Amino acid sequence: MTHTEGMLREGALKGKTILVTGGGTGLGKSMGIYFLKLGAQLVITSRKLDVLEKTAKEMENETGGKVLPLACDVREIDQVEKMWTDAVSHFGRVDVVLNNAAGNFISPTERLSTNAFNTVLDIVLKGTSNVTLTAGKYWIKEKQSGTFLNIVTTYAWTGSGYVVPSAAAKAGVLAMTRSLAVEWAKYKIRSNAIAPGPFPTEGAWSRLLPGDLVKKFDPAKKVPIGRVGDHQELANIAAYLVSDYSAYVNGEVITIDGGEWLMGAGEFNNLDMIPQEMWDMLEASRGKKA
Ligand code: HXC
Ligand code: NAP
Repeated sequence: MTHTEGMLREGALKGKTILVTGGGTGLGKSMGIYFLKLGAQLVITSRKLDVLEKTAKEMENETGGKVLPLACDVREIDQVEKMWTDAVSHFGRVDVVLNNAAGNFISPTERLSTNAFNTVLDIVLKGTSNVTLTAGKYWIKEKQSGTFLNIVTTYAWTGSGYVVPSAAAKAGVLAMTRSLAVEWAKYKIRSNAIAPGPFPTEGAWSRLLPGDLVKKFDPAKKVPIGRVGDHQELANIAAYLVSDYSAYVNGEVITIDGGEWLMGAGEFNNLDMIPQEMWDMLEASRGKKA
């Protein structure tokens, strides 16, 4: 048994239709493939229909499941509402929404144009609220239960320089997750989040480690466990949180980062750099009066 293997039992998501925003690439694609393997039907949505259609075919060939690709810019409420109606009329219902679509890039904040800042806020925060409102209103009206899973990141609570619009937006998504977990529980709608640390994807790496940065900053070095994440270990948590096994988990954010954010937070964690010989000397000199 290893962390690169699927964790849930066969058929754990049978009968569920799951909508994944940003489902054509990266982590959304990996989580979607695992949902299909566990018996779910899938709707994948993002701006690029060609990418979605190619991914949908790949996913169906790999898993034998059913995948509906739908183009939709989550910033545009008209497109979101149409996408939702198309998804529901195709599969009859949608049980789970995975808010995974995001936009991000690194930049000193003072170099950002207003449009640059707003673009990230619009995709991450407003995109998530557009999809959440559309799905939530529908589930409440139809008296149908539902599950939200939102992908944030650890700087949703620590904040982070150089990705300020993303940090502000992810903090908003986390607040929305916790708020709706309480407000909509009475409608049998659960809301949870996952905060991943570094997981290699083309989308994230090309924007967060552009050019030569990828050679200079090895993300694994910031992780106490000493490696980056494997997509399957994220997919395992996601599958659990959208399944009925987690029926009593509501308003939670699960961090999966190998201890990365705590390493940066603990006052004395950098004492890792002290070699054993120096600890030996310090120990030997303990108690000796000067
Ligand atoms: C500064 C930038 C910029 C950059 C774009 N802009 N890239 N400013 N540095 N690197 C500015 C543009 O000049 C423009 O402002 C404004 O942002 C909008 O840019 P567009 O290219 O017109 O926007 P759009 O086509 O809508 O594309 C959105 C995008 C793009 C966010 C800029 O990167 C994208 O499509 N991203 C989607 C995928 C993604 O980002 N994945 C990574 C998620 S990783 P002006 O003023 O010139 O008009 C992630 C990880 C979190 O979230 C945690 C990791 C540990
Ligand atoms: P990714 O492959 O670039 O995924 C982002 C997805 O969002 C793409 O499929 C993109 O598709 C879609 N998207 C962007 N703008 C959109 C819009 N306006 N409307 C609809 N869809 C849009 O990157 P990723 O690394 O897998 O990221 C997935 C999620 O994980 C994000 O929420 C990210 O913040 C989070 N995360 C990633 C890491 C990491 O290390 N990789 C760490 C922490 C959190 P289109 O271009 O076709 O629209």
